[in-house]
Amino acid sequence: KTIMVLNGPNLNLLGRREPGIYGAHTLGDVERLCAEACAREGYALDFRQSNHEGVLLDALHEAGAAQAAGTLAGVVLNAGAYTHTSVALHDAIKGASVRVIELHISNVHAREPFRHHSFIAPAAEGVIAGLGVRGYALAIQALAGSVLAKSA
Ligand code: DQA
Repeated sequence: KTIMVLNGPNLNLLGRREPGIYGAHTLGDVERLCAEACAREGYALDFRQSNHEGVLLDALHEAGAAQAAGTLAGVVLNAGAYTHTSVALHDAIKGASVRVIELHISNVHAREPFRHHSFIAPAAEGVIAGLGVRGYALAIQALAGSVLAKSA
């Protein structure tokens, strides 16, 4: 089974981009961290990044189909700034019936007010923010079911 990690706009710039906020890790480092976390859980990793909203929508549709077919556990989604703007991403998560954990490297609630609203959160199973790139590994653990189930 696979876990998809889907990164949105500007996350290809990680490491160079506002390192005081996002840290020194590159997207390549994040991919390695995710690959290790998936391997520990016995899952394959499908790691993607796009600066294009439509490409992210297509990936969520693909993920929904794979989940329905039983080959995907869910998606860790860092939608970047589209988090705060995209009704289409909200609709894609709901429309594709795909399990999503919303992920932010920074604590968006401690930043500018325009980052406090998320279109993803109401369609997501859960949200992780502010724990740095470690959050990706935690989200993978949650999708893999190796932390306490929600009902526990
Ligand atoms: C981000 C937070 C967003 O507000 C921002 O637009 C990003 C990155 C994060 O990972 O902290 O691009 O999603």
